[in-house]
Amino acid sequence: SAPLRTHAAAKGKFIGTALATGPLANETSYKNIAATEFSQVTAENAMKWDATEPSQGQFNYSGADAIVNFATQNNQQVHGHTLVWHSQTPGWVQNLGATAMRAAMQNHISNVVGHFADNPAVVSWDVVNEVFDDSGNLRTSFWYNTLGSGYIADAFRAARAADPDAKLCINDYNTEGINAKSTAIYNLVSSLRQQGVPIDCVGFQSHLAIQYGFPGDFQQNLQRFAALGVQVRITELDVRVQTPRDATKDATQATYYRNVVNACLAVTACQGVTIWGFTDKYSWVPDTFPGQGGALIYNESYQQKPSYTAVHDAL
Ligand code: XIL
Repeated sequence: SAPLRTHAAAKGKFIGTALATGPLANETSYKNIAATEFSQVTAENAMKWDATEPSQGQFNYSGADAIVNFATQNNQQVHGHTLVWHSQTPGWVQNLGATAMRAAMQNHISNVVGHFADNPAVVSWDVVNEVFDDSGNLRTSFWYNTLGSGYIADAFRAARAADPDAKLCINDYNTEGINAKSTAIYNLVSSLRQQGVPIDCVGFQSHLAIQYGFPGDFQQNLQRFAALGVQVRITELDVRVQTPRDATKDATQATYYRNVVNACLAVTACQGVTIWGFTDKYSWVPDTFPGQGGALIYNESYQQKPSYTAVHDAL
């Protein structure tokens, strides 16, 4: 039957995956599924600051270019991830004083976004990632501690200057339902837009776990953001289970995947759904959440799981 991207296109949505550079270079099954099933890709790590500017002013686009070239060959769009984050950012950035840190941020954004600005495959960026804590306060990262809250608007302005055509997003996790954190993002986006700061989209990472339940107000939450005039998107979907997997957990997981796709389909402003990888062989989950895994839509041997069928049938 037809690949996911065919069904997604018929609904006017993208279906995306995160890609890792290692298996993309080395594994035929990985490459074939990535090329055929998805219409958009996100670099899982290759566009992050530690990869693109490991030392000050020394830019390295080898991994990022490999992913963008793959996408171009396969008629896929690329979502850039991510420009300003507290994680996977070199120590040299974290140790700068305010004036130097602001300049480094602007230089990084203008170089990285500028590198891809003329490439039609690269259509959007996560400009800032995970700037709130779960209570809905701005995260006390080195960015906030050194620059105050103004770094967020500055980052969006720098990104717009570097690529006037790219959609510029804010992205976070634990924001799928209506809660303190998603409301804080809602209020920030509303205020930035009132001030004329160039922000176009909101990403909902959607790292879900079956033991926490499905956020029943996901669609309603997407809809309230849409009412602010921004696009919304699911950026890093996975649904982890306590390992080992079994048929019951797989079936529950499949309903979560189906529900997420249906929420996006029901909201006109939702551009699409990106899954954070596709094979359990390379998921970040077991490394980050010990005892959990099985979060994706293909197993370690590249066989489709019930979650694949759920996404396929929902689209
Ligand atoms: C993760 C990657 O999947 C891992 O390979 C890496 O070791 C750590 O980062 N939120 C994000 C992503 O925005 O960039 C993270 O990706 C997962 C959580």
